[in-house]
Amino acid sequence: MAETNLERQLDRMRQDWDARARENARYYVATGRELWDNDGFFESGETTVAQQILTDMTNICQGKNPKDMRVIEIGCGAGRITRALARLFGEVHAVDISGEMVEMARQAVTDFPHATVYQNNGHDLTVLPGQLYDFAFSTIVFQHIPSREIVYSYVREVHRLLRPGAFFKFQVQGGTVDAGSEDTWVGVSFSDEEAVEMAQACGFEPSYRHGSGDQYFWLWFRRLEGPDAVDDDSGDAYEPRSWPHSAQEELEIACRRLRESEDRFTDLHALMEERTVWAQRLDREIEELTARAHRLSQELEAETALVARLGADLDRLAWAGPLDRRMHGALTFLVRVVGRAHRLWHRHS
Ligand SMILES: C[S@@+](CC[C@H](N)C(=O)[O-])C[C@H]1O[C@@H](n2cnc3c(N)ncnc32)[C@H](O)[C@@H]1O
Repeated sequence: MAETNLERQLDRMRQDWDARARENARYYVATGRELWDNDGFFESGETTVAQQILTDMTNICQGKNPKDMRVIEIGCGAGRITRALARLFGEVHAVDISGEMVEMARQAVTDFPHATVYQNNGHDLTVLPGQLYDFAFSTIVFQHIPSREIVYSYVREVHRLLRPGAFFKFQVQGGTVDAGSEDTWVGVSFSDEEAVEMAQACGFEPSYRHGSGDQYFWLWFRRLEGPDAVDDDSGDAYEPRSWPHSAQEELEIACRRLRESEDRFTDLHALMEERTVWAQRLDREIEELTARAHRLSQELEAETALVARLGADLDRLAWAGPLDRRMHGALTFLVRVVGRAHRLWHRHS
């Protein structure tokens, strides 16, 4: 692709998305409603995060506390998802091609100083601080991008910035659409095979895919380890990015990951031991409680029989002998009954 073509496409994307943002940003971000109120709009972002991220924390966090994770969002729009990500993760770095959208996203995260929104050039992530990130996410963005090469470029960029082993979870158009190269609403689509090809060409393992053939085709790309992971002959239009680490740095990264794994293993082991002790204690308590319940039910049975006997005695007494003797007898039994009931009450309460 000639550079002028790329620039023209990027200009068009920027202009179209700025115009959409000015017209009705929230509608173009999430077309489910034409008029969104604040709460509804951001709740819909929380829902997306709940569905796509909270259900998938094992892959995404890999044992890390989300508050210790640094994440990337591509195509943040008006900050709908960015805000939900900021609630969850320790650092959020979001990019969007449209300056108008970026302004809105910045307002959406004013209360979240650990979330930063950048306007980018529409095809790479050079605007982001050059550090390693723990997770990258993008939804309903690539489905609007008319150029396969731009999507490839983003995937390579995420590869450059993700820590080895980390995931890039994103959605592309999987249905068959007729995208013109000038269209900035209907983007390119990817078949299952093309998605796998893209992962492999960009140094990722295509770990999971969901929704092939559908508009919401979700891809989980796991960044492979090592410089050989990138297939630089994939025919992309960009200068292939070289592996960002020297051999020394690679070794340090590998050692750090080993230490992290060891720490995780130790933590897990300690947790398992704690859980085992806890389960054993629970077992013992259950046994004790069962025995106690058994004893109590036996005592209750005996007391019920006694009370029944006392009642029968009382009845008999009531009709035998002179009145004062009957009264005396009845009172004695009554005192005994009350005494029993009193003891019973103390024992069981
Ligand atoms: C439908 S909105 C979705 C926004 C957000 N992902 C969400 O779900 O709330 C698409 C966003 O992608 C941005 N976008 C489109 N093409 C882009 C590109 N090449 N690079 C970065 N952002 C882009 C648009 O400016 C727009 O804000």
